[in-house]
Amino acid sequence: MRAMPDAIITVDGLGKRYRLGGRRAAYFTLRDAVAGTAGRLAGALRGRGLGAPAEDLWALRDVSFEVRPGEVVGVIGRNGAGKSTLLRILSRITEPTEGRAVLRGRVGSLLEVGTGFHPELTGRENILMSGAILGMRRAEIARRFDEIVAFAGVEKFLDTPCKHYSSGMYVRLGFAVAAHLDPEILLVDEVLAVGDAEFQRKCLGKMGEVARGGRTILFVSHNMMAVENLCSRAVVLSEGRVFLDADAATAVRAHTSGEDGDGGLGPPSRCRSAAGVDSVWFEGPQGRELTAVCGDPLTICMRYEIPGEEDRVDWGMTFYGISGDPLVHFGSMYTCVWEKRLPPKGVICCTIPRLPLAPGRYRLNVSMHKDGVYIDHVVGAATLDVVPGDFYKTGRIPPASDCRVQVDHSWQLRDDGDGR
Ligand SMILES: Nc1ncnc2c1ncn2[C@@H]1O[C@H](COP(=O)(O)OP(=O)(O)O)[C@@H](O)[C@H]1O
Ligand SMILES: [Mg+2]
Repeated sequence: MRAMPDAIITVDGLGKRYRLGGRRAAYFTLRDAVAGTAGRLAGALRGRGLGAPAEDLWALRDVSFEVRPGEVVGVIGRNGAGKSTLLRILSRITEPTEGRAVLRGRVGSLLEVGTGFHPELTGRENILMSGAILGMRRAEIARRFDEIVAFAGVEKFLDTPCKHYSSGMYVRLGFAVAAHLDPEILLVDEVLAVGDAEFQRKCLGKMGEVARGGRTILFVSHNMMAVENLCSRAVVLSEGRVFLDADAATAVRAHTSGEDGDGGLGPPSRCRSAAGVDSVWFEGPQGRELTAVCGDPLTICMRYEIPGEEDRVDWGMTFYGISGDPLVHFGSMYTCVWEKRLPPKGVICCTIPRLPLAPGRYRLNVSMHKDGVYIDHVVGAATLDVVPGDFYKTGRIPPASDCRVQVDHSWQLRDDGDGR
């Protein structure tokens, strides 16, 4: 690795191995036994036999990268890619199995809900203790105290032990402490997945402020819009390894297109807040549901639910090909102005007079967003098959090897008489 002399974070050949042994086998056996099928139980025992040698799982392997002071770096990847493991090692909650991580600065971290705070201590006591752990003087902490409490909105529960907090309160206070106690390095894991859209916006605003103050941030998120807005660079993890380390837009594109996974036709993965898209389906001209189309009018419908009426909500859908390329995007922000407030429940539909995709299988990502923040983003929300059909009404279509899209067009001959 090329050494970066002024790096504030150096991650060098980092690996974390978990041993999965009898415990996991027992779990599978029990689950199959509960399901009640003796045959499957026997299969499970053969495949994952009790007493089989312990399995190793490398949650992280050969991970190296460096971060300069003031950089805001996103860490993205599918579920299980190793993002949380990386942040846990950086914040010294877990030891790496191999390699090393060096952080040259005071670290504030907000990892999953439940880490960082002592459940028996009150909100007040946890704030004071977090400050002490960060090496701050009492006067410094006192100066920030009211700001933290106001940001988290936990005034009434300051003297209640944190174990009685809702997960939302826990996260709000955790974020407020991590962001206000002036860390030189801020590690944030998935904070935006919990809490409402309003709090998400507040967190993003605060992180932007911390970033502009010249602090270094490592930000794990499924919220690709937030990563693109906030980060200059992002590291894409896939199965524990660095799949790509690039500018944020390139990294986000590699992830949302499914390049870092199985070509994108796996189960959906999503980032959502309290609200979101519940189901997605396709309808043909007479409103009948369909899964395959060719050149006919296509309506894509999404059933959504949000906590209350909203305005300024926008919708987006992108079709991806098997190779992971985004092929076409339909976004309400480009083509429509909503005049009505959105009711808390409804179905939003987008009609395409003639879908221009060539025969093949396509994956659809859908999103619901407001003021530049995803309310929901479902990667792999639906799959659509475009079947060979009479797109040009001539009975002929080009071979699949020639195109991904089919577009209406016409041909003319101009003969100006002198052969030019
Ligand atoms: N304490 C643990 N024991 C065993 N396996 C773990 C443990 N923590 C994480 N893993 C496994 O390590 C892999 C990476 O997990 P994680 O870092 O949580 O991924 P991500 O945050 O990207 O979803 C997953 O396969 C997960 O099941
Ligand atoms: Mg995680």
